[in-house]
Order: sequence, then structure tokens, then C-alpha cells
Amino acid sequence: MSKYQTKILGTGKYHPSKVMTNDDFAKIMDTNDQWITERTGIKERRFAEKDELNVDMATHAAKMALKEANLQPDDIDFILYQVTLPDYYFPNSASNLQEKLGITNKCPALDINAACSGYLYGFVLADSLIKSGLYKNILLIGAEKTSNFNAFKDRSTSVLFGDAAGATVLSRSSEGESSAVLGSVLGSDSSKLDSLAMPNSAGANEVTHEMLENFEDKKVVMNGQVVFKNAVKTMAKHSLELLDNAGISMDELSWFIPHQANLRIIEAVGQMVKCPQEKVIVNVQKYANTSSASIPVTLNEGIAEGKIKRGDTILMTAFGAGLTSAGILIRY
Ligand code: ACO
Repeated sequence: MSKYQTKILGTGKYHPSKVMTNDDFAKIMDTNDQWITERTGIKERRFAEKDELNVDMATHAAKMALKEANLQPDDIDFILYQVTLPDYYFPNSASNLQEKLGITNKCPALDINAACSGYLYGFVLADSLIKSGLYKNILLIGAEKTSNFNAFKDRSTSVLFGDAAGATVLSRSSEGESSAVLGSVLGSDSSKLDSLAMPNSAGANEVTHEMLENFEDKKVVMNGQVVFKNAVKTMAKHSLELLDNAGISMDELSWFIPHQANLRIIEAVGQMVKCPQEKVIVNVQKYANTSSASIPVTLNEGIAEGKIKRGDTILMTAFGAGLTSAGILIRY
């Protein structure tokens, strides 16, 4: 058992200002607000401008998290950056962010990619780094400019996603504090690799909106029903296991934050784990699926709205391409 425990010191979020409603989609493709609302719960999403990079969104979110954590940029000693489609193949996004934030201490900067589960993968890695005693203040990012891979001619996938960035500063708990990671689980089921993918031919080239016009070549390939069923089953399994292992009942749990992919998935997971609706924090209607940004953004909003308080137990679970999955139970 480590003498160190992990604490969330600050959280931040960023959404681009451009709003695209379901009705806006209905103007450019054969879809409508009723279909999207009934199947997904999504009403609108944000999209970044062409010249607004993923790392720009991450910078906004990170500055907010640093301010809340009351830390200076050079207090950060590790940057973990989850991004599915980065701005550059190299250098990595974490190094770009180090520069944007003015961090001069030469701290390690590492990108990860576990798609929608990536923020929670990063959380578990950060927890291990803190518990090892080697690192103290870790900046964890989930930033996704999904509009870079969104084929706006494909109605079955394009309406699902939005752009956002979430940031969390994780640090050592001080003595006597109860903040801690109470349990975690990570996994990936590569037998369903093809049910959610973006072919490498697209990833290996500069992806632009113009290229995506030809969506037969450049698009997200998704079997929505396979993803739906596995998302529900796996997130529910992870959640129940984590609560069981920690000896925490659903009554004792304060908040449940599932990945914000789709309201129907969120509701189905909630029912499977018998979580009362009022404990589930949901914002998918405003932002759509922002992939790995969805959980840190929801966490930030839960804290900012005064729902989440120190000492609360929070269960978070995610699912995404891979098919990766993750869960973490924390005391805030
Ligand atoms: N507007 C109108 N009609 C549409 C649209 C649209 N935007 N998209 C698809 N349709 C049509 C289809 O063409 C189909 O028409 P048809 O019956 O004439 O062939 C009909 O709607 C039904 O399509 P289905 O794919 O069977 O619809 P389903 O009920 O499965 O809902 C959905 C689709 C919303 C994608 C659902 O499967 C889902 O949410 N899956 C999870 C996918 C997901 O969340 N992926 C995100 C990444 S992974 C993650 O974050 C967990």
C-alpha cells in the first residue's frame, strides 16, 4: 500500500463557441430533431473553427484547472494528454501543451489514445505515478476535436459527436485528507475492433473538411448497435465490480458519471446498476459525444454547479473504440 493517495486539485473545461443544433444538421442532410433526440438525447453540440486546434482547446481547459488548483504552470511535473486524432503526428500534443502553458521545467509529456475511455485510462496511470512517489502534480487532459474526423455527409455518425476539452490536475492528498482512488478497472476487447474505427488511410493524411466531403474514403466506420450493447454491458459490469470490491453500496455512492455518448446508453447503464436518476450527472444534450473530454467536462460542471462536494464518492465509467473500457471509483 502506497503512503500516497491521489486527490483532484482542480478541474477545467472548454467548449468552442460555435453551436450546431439538430435543426442545423437537418438543413444539410436527411435527418431531423425528433430522430436525433429520441435515439440519442442530443439537442446540440459545439464545433471548433478550422484554425482552432485541439491543443488550443486543451490550453483553455488546462488554465482553468491550474487556476482552480492554485498552481503555477511549473508546478506540474507530468502531462498526460488523451487525444484520438491529434493536431500533429509529432511532436505529441502533451509537448505542444507544455509550450502553450509556458511550462519551463522540462517535465515529461505523454500522449495516450484509448478513444472515449482515454481520460479514465489517464486517470489510472496518473494515480499510479502519484502512488509511486515519483510525481506529485499531474495535468491530465481529454481533448477531442471530433469535427476533424466527422464526415458531415454521414448522418449515422456525424450527429453523434461534438468538440470539447476537459482538464484535471491530480495531486497527492495531504495527510489526514480522505481524497483517494478507491478502485479502478481498465480493459479492451479487440474482438470488436472493427465495430468502431477510422481507417488508417484517413489518419495517415492531413484530415480536412474538404477531404471528408468524400466520406466513402474518409469516415468513421461504426456498427452502432454492437457499440451500444457492449457499451451498456461493459460499463455496468465495471461499475458493479468497482462498488462491490470497495464495499460501497449504491445508497452510499454520491455521484455516477458515465461517458456521455448517448442518453439511451446512460439510462440503460443506470438501470442495470440500479442507480437513482438524481445521482447520474448528464450533459450529453448540450455537447453530444465529446469522446474522452466528456467525463472531465461533466466532472468540472458537477463541481462548479455545487453538486459534487469534498468527501463525495464518485463512480466514473467509459467505453470507446478498441473496444476500450474503463471505470474508476474515487473519493473527491
Ligand atoms: N437521422 C435520421 N435517420 C437516421 C440517422 C439520422 N441521423 N442515422 C441513422 N438513421 C436511420 C438509419 O439509416 C436507419 O434507417 P433504415 O431503417 O431505413 O435503414 C434507421 O435510422 C435506424 O438505424 P439504426 O442504426 O438501426 O438505429 P439505432 O436505433 O441503432 O440508433 C445509434 C443508432 C443512435 C447510432 C445507436 O445505435 C447508438 O447510439 N449506438 C451507439 C453508438 C455510439 O455511441 N457511438 C459513439 C462512439 S462510442 C462511445 O462513445 C460509447
